[in-house]
Amino acid sequence: MCGIIGYAGTKRVDKVLISGLKKLEYRGYDSAGLAFITNDNNLEIIKSVGKISKLEEKVNKSNIQFGNVGIGHTRWATHGIPNEINAHPHTSGKVSIVHNGIIENYTNIKEELQSKGVTFYSDTDTEVACAYINYIYETEKDKIKCIQKACKHFRGSYAFGIIFEDDKDSIFVTRRDSPLIIGISDGENFVSSDVSAFLSYTKKYILLDHNEFAKVSSNSVLIYNDNGDLLNKEINIATWSDTQYEKNGYEHFMLKEIYEEPLVLKNIFNRYLNDISYLKDVDLSIYNNIHIVACGSAMHAGLVGRYLFETYANIPVTVDVASEYRYKNQIITDQTLVIIVSQSGETADTLAALRVAKSKGATVLAIVNVLGSTITREANIVIYTYAGPEIAVATTKGYTSQVAILATLAFEISRKHLTLDEKNKIISEMNNIQNILNYVLLKIEEYKDIAKSIYKKEHLFFIGRGIDYSMCMEGSLKLKEISYMHSEAYPAGELKHGTISLIENKTPIIAIATNKNLYEKTISNIKETKARGAFVIFITNEELDTTGDFYDIKLVLPTSTDFLQSLSVVTALQLISYYTAKERKCDIDKPKNLAKSVTVE
Ligand code: AGP
Ligand code: GLU
Repeated sequence: MCGIIGYAGTKRVDKVLISGLKKLEYRGYDSAGLAFITNDNNLEIIKSVGKISKLEEKVNKSNIQFGNVGIGHTRWATHGIPNEINAHPHTSGKVSIVHNGIIENYTNIKEELQSKGVTFYSDTDTEVACAYINYIYETEKDKIKCIQKACKHFRGSYAFGIIFEDDKDSIFVTRRDSPLIIGISDGENFVSSDVSAFLSYTKKYILLDHNEFAKVSSNSVLIYNDNGDLLNKEINIATWSDTQYEKNGYEHFMLKEIYEEPLVLKNIFNRYLNDISYLKDVDLSIYNNIHIVACGSAMHAGLVGRYLFETYANIPVTVDVASEYRYKNQIITDQTLVIIVSQSGETADTLAALRVAKSKGATVLAIVNVLGSTITREANIVIYTYAGPEIAVATTKGYTSQVAILATLAFEISRKHLTLDEKNKIISEMNNIQNILNYVLLKIEEYKDIAKSIYKKEHLFFIGRGIDYSMCMEGSLKLKEISYMHSEAYPAGELKHGTISLIENKTPIIAIATNKNLYEKTISNIKETKARGAFVIFITNEELDTTGDFYDIKLVLPTSTDFLQSLSVVTALQLISYYTAKERKCDIDKPKNLAKSVTVE
């Protein structure tokens, strides 16, 4: 969600900012803009609605003498429609600003400033923040102190990139909750929402913490804490490379990322199956209840985790979406383990839930992909998925890698309840995951056929029971996200309590039945829909495979234990969604209205 890029160096600023914004496109946006200092020392702003390519066109058509310092932004509108006036950067007096986040008390500040004669042009909270910083700057000429004073007044979340008209060499940045990092190089420095925007120039970066303030110039980076003390911060080296942000021959990032799943999962089991050093000294057996908290697909991964912890370790588990959990009465004791799941490690609701849980004394274990992200810095225990950068908005390897970690954890906690045979079977499957998933990827023609059979429909149902139902939830979300088809996931046995009224002749039903104990029950529910004319796509595994007159298309996937079955089924569902979206000619990697990293509440 939203991308910030800033540059101070010797290269032509527009080139660096535009290439950075292109790298940040995957985060989701609706408009974009640049503010920069020209060679003849003027501050210029160029903005446009829509794709970066439109902004680039505008930049190329202008005959401005671009300088070497500037800030850029991709906006994901929260306050005010996506139009050119609302697009960032915003300017007030001597200050230009780009912002990611929400200033919650902007209405009060706006009224205060309006009463002092300030005029506003946009509907955004950002312009208000900009005007307030400019207002403080009238009396506080130390720029860092000015920003600090202004920020003390702001409620909400923000990462700011700021240029002052009277300092043509520097960018000023700060953050609270929204992400921002500083890229370090020789004679040039960068700021960005994530490393991708400057990886082609440097791998060195500094993580800016909450309420830290930095002045970034071509030859220096000065970072201060809230008290104004100069800090000496660690320089990190990015492990992800620039080429991981390329499609490498695949038509879409989503397809590339699906094809990476076999290796990502193999690496996870290799790394974590016999090495629990990530737990530091924490003894998981002391916890008698678990709360899993996450958003979207990460929450769906949590549902698989719940099934495994409850079924095999006998531990009660709740799974909550973070935006609900953060505001409910969380019943936390000193025996509660809170598991936070997040690909980006920056999701605002998930981060807030983590903080609430910690403030109530819970031990927080986070499963995260992005190294150094905010959630990893605040959790007590971090398990990285090491899935590599995920660019497609719809998560694929992000989700399966989260499930793989949860399965490893559940296996660890359940060891004492499992027989030797069961343990050996699970371990052997974990060791064989790459082959299992490669086999799933071989069935492309079947996924394409399923896609062709449903893509003209507007409504669809996924049904299943138990762990199959949690796979339905993820399959349904994936399809909605990228194909814009309305779909619902339903527990197969619940359909008859109301929703079956929607089943008509040829309504597509994707029915999943991979669980031996529930198989027959699910088949009965499928037959209930078939009797009402449904077009049934039946997904099962080799062990349970049967023929019958209750389906129209059957997809048979490799049999796995409960620990890994969702990995193969959901990978297949990801591909079905992918090919359906392709038939519908959707923008697969960047679906409308969505952002990759949801850094606002
Ligand atoms: C998944 O395809 C979605 N884009 C979304 O549901 C996502 O999983 C959710 O926003 C959570 O993101 P996170 O894992 O980065 O916290
Ligand atoms: N709240 C700001 C706006 O709507 C910033 C949104 C963003 O993070 O892109 O302009």
